[in-house]
Amino acid sequence: MKLMIEKASSNDLNKILDVINISNREAFSKIIPKEYFKSPILTIEELKHDFEVMEFYVYRLNSEIVGVAALHVEFEDSGRIRWVYVLPEYQRRGIGTALIKFIQDRAKRIGLKRLWLITPERAYWAINFYKKLGFEMKDRIERPWGFDAVMYKELK
Ligand SMILES: CC(C)(COP(=O)(O)OP(=O)(O)OC[C@H]1O[C@@H](n2cnc3c(N)ncnc32)[C@H](O)[C@@H]1OP(=O)(O)O)[C@@H](O)C(=O)NCCC(=O)NCCS
Repeated sequence: MKLMIEKASSNDLNKILDVINISNREAFSKIIPKEYFKSPILTIEELKHDFEVMEFYVYRLNSEIVGVAALHVEFEDSGRIRWVYVLPEYQRRGIGTALIKFIQDRAKRIGLKRLWLITPERAYWAINFYKKLGFEMKDRIERPWGFDAVMYKELK
């Protein structure tokens, strides 16, 4: 079977940027007030910086990148999940779940004990998505437009 998820290479940067910015605009412009909403959410310079410090994974469908997710190993035993985005027309087909499970396996392999992430509480779709994957809400951070949820999962 053809491998769908793989570590991204620097050749993938422009496509990753598109997936993140298109998916972010579609989802978050609905819940973040205009005055706080940054679009595009990410520039190529910012992405290049993150690419140096995080591991990016891409989901390919017929060689096109339709989903991305990143793992930022910040401490010896914990990693933060960043930049989880699936193109709108490919959502709800299990692609996001496959990306997070892939990152979980990778995290276990390199000895991490937990994963964590931040997502807006109003992004009910993302909260549902992470809860279904076994993440629990542990904390909340106040933002000008509402609260961000801090979610954790212990890896067993
Ligand atoms: C969140 C996201 C990555 C999920 O990816 P996906 O490939 O669509 O997710 P899956 O198909 O694996 O969904 C798994 C479960 O998550 C939940 N879920 C996903 N999308 C949902 C939605 N729009 N509404 C409600 N629940 C949703 C459901 O429980 C779903 O299971 P089900 O389809 O059997 O009901 C994707 O919707 C996305 O890119 N959204 C915009 C960006 C975003 O919110 N990123 C994450 C926070 S930074």
